[in-house]
Amino acid sequence: MNTYTYPKNDEMLQRASKVIPAGVYGHLGPAEGCFIPISAYPKFCDHAKGAYFWDLDGNRFIDYMCAYGPNILGYCDDDVDAAAKAQMDVANCTTSPSYKMVEFAELLTDTVSMADWAFFAKNGGDVTTLAMLTARAATGKKKIIFVKGYYHGVAQWTQRADAPWVLKGEVENNLMVDFNDIAGLKKIIEENKDDIACFISTPYMHGNFVDNVLPADGYWQAVRKLCTDNGIVLIIDDVRCGFRLDVAGSDHYYGFEADMLCLCKGIANGYNVSALCGKDFLKPVVSSITYTGSYWMSAVPFAAGIASINKMKALGGGAKHLELGRRVCDGVAKAAKENGVNLSISGEPCMFYMIIKDDDSLLLHQEWIAEVVKRGVFMTNHHNHFTNLALSDEDINYTAEVADEAFKVMTKNHPEIYKK
Ligand SMILES: Cc1ncc(COP(=O)(O)O)c(C=O)c1O
Repeated sequence: MNTYTYPKNDEMLQRASKVIPAGVYGHLGPAEGCFIPISAYPKFCDHAKGAYFWDLDGNRFIDYMCAYGPNILGYCDDDVDAAAKAQMDVANCTTSPSYKMVEFAELLTDTVSMADWAFFAKNGGDVTTLAMLTARAATGKKKIIFVKGYYHGVAQWTQRADAPWVLKGEVENNLMVDFNDIAGLKKIIEENKDDIACFISTPYMHGNFVDNVLPADGYWQAVRKLCTDNGIVLIIDDVRCGFRLDVAGSDHYYGFEADMLCLCKGIANGYNVSALCGKDFLKPVVSSITYTGSYWMSAVPFAAGIASINKMKALGGGAKHLELGRRVCDGVAKAAKENGVNLSISGEPCMFYMIIKDDDSLLLHQEWIAEVVKRGVFMTNHHNHFTNLALSDEDINYTAEVADEAFKVMTKNHPEIYKK
């Protein structure tokens, strides 16, 4: 297999770094640490379709990052884009919101099992913040229980206390517990009785740099009971998993019901809309909070969301994602075994997380991923991956072939570890 080079990408990064902080800031850019060594990665997209994107040098990638989640059906899906274009022709950002907002809320509340209402915004962080505000307003309490290693966006209340830009007061009510630790949760509740507004968690632990952890049997049912018994609002941050496990919500998938469910990446195939779904008892409270944004009621993403959800359901929804993910993981795991590499694959298969366990530094893992990327399969080092419904059998087979060749290159470079 030929390996890619990126001269036009690199030139564009030089231009970008003169006018944009970090060139490309945040998790889509080289500064965040997901793309190491950065020489192995493309930096800019030219165009995208289905399971692929093409970079500025014309290199094609089977994309297992899916824009970090939003590409759930396949890039530039014909049906979703047609619905968005039709809406664009009649109205988008208007003074009175389009009736499409109502249709979208009706579809979401019919689709998501726990949802009695839906409140729309743009990004995941908009709705995790609204969920936290709603819980505080509903309970009159301040404290928030987080799961260690959490990520719920970048708002002040979600940040680490030692960050120089964070005010102490913003995070002094944050409590931490380990995922799956019911005894720890009971202790925190006991110690902070009458002060806790909410428990916020992702449906399973999909953190970075560690094997991802699924809920233990009975975990979520025990959490649900503890929250109900103690007047604690249960918020599930389904921004990342939402609709990849189950269009009825990841709480439904794991057999319990959240009080509020935060959705974003999976709901409109890349069009910018997020949703906070909630139970009836919280509707008057959320209605009373001053919370809005200039583009939050734009109609084009609503029309795209309706088309996307209907297509997701028609194509088999979460079950299809899980099946595709399982096949990708099986192919990569087989290649690892045949090359004598101890590769751990964890989390749900539609959001699989990988670590090579043959060294503690994670450098072997980075070397292997770099060889994979240079052969046209886009993965990152220290983050979970994502499936999309445009992945073909051929793509999945090619992924396994690339993984195999990349293992061969990496192991050959390390005879000290991989003795024949
Ligand atoms: C679990 C989770 N919550 C919240 C967010 C924040 O979403 P956004 O970046 O759209 O604000 C993310 C983003 O990756 C996420 O993965």
